[in-house]
Amino acid sequence: MSAGVSAIIQKENRPFGLVQNIMDIFNSPKKDYVKSVISWRTRYSMNIESIDNQHKEIFGIINNYINCILKGFGKLKTKYILDELIQSCRDHFEHEEGLMHQNEYPGLYSHKHTHKYFINELLDIRNKIDNNPFPISISTGDFIRKWTINHILTSDKAYSIFMRLRQVA
Ligand SMILES: [Fe+2]
Ligand SMILES: [Fe+2]
Repeated sequence: MSAGVSAIIQKENRPFGLVQNIMDIFNSPKKDYVKSVISWRTRYSMNIESIDNQHKEIFGIINNYINCILKGFGKLKTKYILDELIQSCRDHFEHEEGLMHQNEYPGLYSHKHTHKYFINELLDIRNKIDNNPFPISISTGDFIRKWTINHILTSDKAYSIFMRLRQVA
């Protein structure tokens, strides 16, 4: 199991998970609460319409997941949204990898590996929801949000720049 998920599990094992989530929000400055929601920014754009649309859709599902935890909607609904996220990510990653393949992107192999890592982390979180009696921690939402933004700004940006330069050349 990865260090990321272990940390999440450790947090989730705290007693009174939902109460702790609410206390975390209550005790943190307002900006921290706002930060837990993901919003679209121009700098996230790849200038590839199909990819931007899929990223926006993924952002929407991540927000639903985070809201679901914050509002204490329960495991059934949380799992439903997580399944939606896993499916959307699988479809999106397949689309991205297809574009990279078509354009002979040299970073395809490592990019694919990163996608696989994220899907496995999401599956671990899902497994955790099934097997842990405590409410799911908001830290899982934080992990998903941070990974997604970081992936878009680094790995996805890298291939989009490569493709633009390739078209110009
Ligand atoms: Fe992407
Ligand atoms: Fe990607």
